[in-house]
Amino acid sequence: MSSVDTPTFLQDGKALSPEDLARVENALEDIHLKELKSDVPTPPAVFGAGGPMLKRFDQSTAVSRITSQAVTPPRSVVGIGNKVAKPDYSEAKIVVAMVGLPARGKSYLSNKLMRYLKWLEYDVKVFNVGQLRRSRARQKAQQSGKKEDHTASYFSHANAEATKLRDQLAEDSLEMLIQWLKEGGNVGIHDATNSTRSRRAKIEQRVAKEKGIVVIFLESVCDDPAVIAANVALKVSSGDPDYKDMSRETAEKDFLRRIKEYEAVYETITEPSLSYLRIRNVGDQVTLCHIHGYLQSRIAFYLMNLHLKPRSIFFSRHGESQYNVEGKIGGDSPLSERGMRYARALPDLIKDNIGDAPLTVWTSTLQRTIQTAQFLPYNKLTWKSLDELDAGVCDGMTYEEIEQAYPEDFANRDEDKFNYRYRGRSFTLLLFLVVITHDLGGESYRDVVVRLEPVIMELERQENILIVGHQAILRCLYAYFHNLPQADLPYIKIPLHTVIKLTPKAYGCDEERYTLPIGAVDTHRPKPGAKSFDSSSIGNTAREYYGAN
Ligand code: SIN
Repeated sequence: MSSVDTPTFLQDGKALSPEDLARVENALEDIHLKELKSDVPTPPAVFGAGGPMLKRFDQSTAVSRITSQAVTPPRSVVGIGNKVAKPDYSEAKIVVAMVGLPARGKSYLSNKLMRYLKWLEYDVKVFNVGQLRRSRARQKAQQSGKKEDHTASYFSHANAEATKLRDQLAEDSLEMLIQWLKEGGNVGIHDATNSTRSRRAKIEQRVAKEKGIVVIFLESVCDDPAVIAANVALKVSSGDPDYKDMSRETAEKDFLRRIKEYEAVYETITEPSLSYLRIRNVGDQVTLCHIHGYLQSRIAFYLMNLHLKPRSIFFSRHGESQYNVEGKIGGDSPLSERGMRYARALPDLIKDNIGDAPLTVWTSTLQRTIQTAQFLPYNKLTWKSLDELDAGVCDGMTYEEIEQAYPEDFANRDEDKFNYRYRGRSFTLLLFLVVITHDLGGESYRDVVVRLEPVIMELERQENILIVGHQAILRCLYAYFHNLPQADLPYIKIPLHTVIKLTPKAYGCDEERYTLPIGAVDTHRPKPGAKSFDSSSIGNTAREYYGAN
């Protein structure tokens, strides 16, 4: 966003005029003053969390919030920002074909991958062959009045008729997936066992006919009896339509027999031509073969960071800040007196929840989060990428001031808050006789999602983490864990003085909220005219059986 204006050549090659010099000096002094302004000592940023890549990411500590105070936006700035369109992902077309025995976490991985890629705004859909089988069987039953038998013998290779039917279902599901990709989808996940070489060869040959579509196989291997047992238990107790009219005991027996039928013909991926990823016991070992291209590498990197260890992720906004009390947005103000009370009360609340389990606390680099975390007796890391959404020219203003100064823009942002990028603060430098105008800062929710991607990767890798963060940041992270659509994201309620505990489960996250009885202002602005987004219904970790009704 930098633009080079008409160069300003100095008259007769003379040095800068006293006025020019004064302007440059004032600008530099302003930057210095604002950098030194904070009266809370900022602890050294420890960037060990994500290895060298994140280290580089976070060390880019260019001060973007140089005007963290109420400002009168420069006259040259017309409006406060603009809607920024979604990136063009139309070229990205991938089939992710799952491979694995039943109860090896294929649907878990499909679901996680879908959630991650959708959060990054790719169009992703899971095509589950089991669900297609059930919905076709229901249709047949309605027509013929005869119920198809889907107990273990249906999955036996010796059952030629059923094997043919199952192959057909897998092929039909792939056709539906390819059609969906052609209509604009980006990543179609073929959630099936795809457990034989011949089945995989068919998939490879079919996809090869489509220009611009590639296939990667994702094999989930699991030899940890505890994980398999947990998956079996989940399958038979989670309302799976295959077992809905059976006792738990009968269902378990049948499912174990089904697994045996698949084991009899299972062939792990060894085909040298295939592009594939093999994950052993989610988190233990990953094998990559022929993974090329940006999106494929991104998928691989994400899957490499997953693990199944039980843990919780805690979110807390900083305590109430002085800017919160004044109704101002952004800035780098310290905590209010009530905010300090919250900071002092936070350690007991966390301890009550986590006991002696290890925990790491992440804060942003802004003083209100660092102050809030100061009494927590845990290892602490600061992340520049956790800093609050940068409100650009509006940083330090109240919503009323923004509405008054820019009524049209204000309404525009309300209409599409996720896509609205605040205009950055204009910054003019005279460099080598050229005037350079640069916009500094100014973000949309989408920009925040993009800069939070390394945080998500690291969150997936880590165990118990407490993030002491900011409203917009926590909204973005929360939306990832609960798979919430972008349009709802900017309206999620993340109140002050409240700890949100998320416990990842096989198909989502359990959620608990703890509010401390320390008053604080309400900084939530509902979408004007719309039904307020209510996150209290969230926390459903049940597996969804698409098309099961
Ligand atoms: C199923 O029908 O439940 C799975 C089919 C398969 O992929 O083998």
